[in-house]
Parts: sequence; C-alpha cells; structure tokens
Amino acid sequence: MTEIIKTASEWKQLKKSDAHKEKKIGFVPTMGALHAGHSSLIEKCVKENDLSVVSIFVNPIQFNDPKDLLNYPRTFEKDFRMLEDLKVDFLFYPDYKEIYSDNFKYRVIENELSKILCGEYRPGHFDGVLTVVLKLLNIIRADRAYFGEKDYQQYKLIDGMCRAFFLDVEIIPCPTVREDDGLAMSSRNLLLKSEEREHAVKFSKLLQSNKLPQQIKAELENLGFKVDYIEEIDGRRFGAVHLGKVRLIDNVKI
Ligand code: PAJ
Repeated sequence: MTEIIKTASEWKQLKKSDAHKEKKIGFVPTMGALHAGHSSLIEKCVKENDLSVVSIFVNPIQFNDPKDLLNYPRTFEKDFRMLEDLKVDFLFYPDYKEIYSDNFKYRVIENELSKILCGEYRPGHFDGVLTVVLKLLNIIRADRAYFGEKDYQQYKLIDGMCRAFFLDVEIIPCPTVREDDGLAMSSRNLLLKSEEREHAVKFSKLLQSNKLPQQIKAELENLGFKVDYIEEIDGRRFGAVHLGKVRLIDNVKI
C-alpha cells in the first residue's frame, strides 16, 4: 500500500515515528505522467533503501511557456497504480501553496551551467527546477535521491547544488530508458501525434550517429525539426528540437 502524504509537517511526524526512524530513505522526485523511465529510477530506489518516497508535483515555476504547463500530461490514477505495483511506501503529493507559501520570492540561482544548452532556450527554467528540488530534498530528508541521465544537465545542476549547499544526500544518476526504437522515454511523448511519433525517432538516431553536430543539425532541419541546439560538451552530445508543439531533449555519451 502506497500512503499519500500532502504536507511537509505530516511527513516530518511520520519520519520521526518509531516505525520509521533509523531507516534509509530513498527519494524519486517526478512531475507525474509516469512511464518506464520513471519506473527504472523507482525500482532502484525501492531496492536500495528501507523506505521509498516518490513525489508528484507539476512545478509551475520551471515552465517558461504557459502553454507547456497547461498541456503537460496529468495521469494521476494510472501513476498511483504504478506506484502501488512498484511497492513504493509513500507518495508525496503537495499542492502549490504547500511548496510556494512564499510565492517563489526565494529561489536558487546558478550562474554557469544553467545558462547554456536548455538554459539558453528556457530562461529561468533551471532556477525553477533547483528551487523546487531544494525544497523537496529539505522536506523529505532522504539518504539517496535518484535522477535520470535523460535530463543530464538537470542532474549535473542538482548534484552541484547539493554540494554547494552541503546537503546531506547522495545524488544517484540513472541511465536513460528508451523505447524499442531508441526514442528516449518522456512524459511529453504522450503529446506527439502518431505521425510525429514515427518521425521523432530520427532525432535520437541522428544524435547517436557518428556525424558532426552541424551535420546533424542540418539533417534534422531538412527533416522539418526546429533545432534549438546540437552541442558536444565534456564527452557528451546534447540536443533539443521541436516537433510540432512538442519539445524533445536527449543526450548521449560520445
Ligand atoms: P520528470 O520529467 O517527471 O522526471 C522525473 C525524473 O525521471 C527525472 O530525474 C528524469 O531525469 C527522470 N526520467 C525521465 N525520463 C527518463 C528516461 N527516459 N530515462 C531515465 N530517467 C528518466 O525531471 C523532472 O520531472 C522535474 O524537473 C523534477 C526533477 C521532478 C523537478 O520538478
């Protein structure tokens, strides 16, 4: 049975109860619309810890485009069944007021990595991500927290923040889970029309090819993608494209 917790104070009480103190806690923050990418993190978390916590919170502050926030898939019933099947102990499911009682007056800002790649095209996005993750980590106080390499820039920024602010949590990166055809799993894939879905795979195929970034960009543009960037940094190739109304990101080790 997965127990739903809605407030920080409820969790604080539970955490210090006799049944739960001294237990190793693993945490997987999400925005819901759960898929096999999320479940790979959750399975690892359940396996490696005594207690597992998953959060679902669609964080409005990290959406720089209001339409993206409005269209973001919400599949709570299905998500909850998945958490029960995976034997997750607690779902942290707060509302906006619980997380942003200050209305986002206080926020975390990073000045380097958050300004390039996705940060260049989504101003303020990573401030929103870092702020909500700091709040969630401070509430849950887990021993380990799990993040996907699908969002590699996000993972690096969170790992850096935890070190910079001496947070007592181990940040664990988990490999990208892909569909059978190679497309990286993403909640936003649900928003692709069927012909766009077939087309989307060419993005991951080209990103994984041995072509140069500028060649990949040109080929994607010829195929009708709007390309934000294809860039190689520190042995990784990162890409972001738009297909219709949907923005896709991916990265591979080179
Ligand atoms: P969300 O997109 O729901 O992703 C939650 C976690 O699942 C992230 O760590 C993400 O990297 C991971 N994930 C998503 N797709 C994956 C895939 N195909 N393979 C492996 N891992 C995958 O990322 C967020 O939410 C938010 O920004 C959040 C960190 C929760 C802050 O609001």
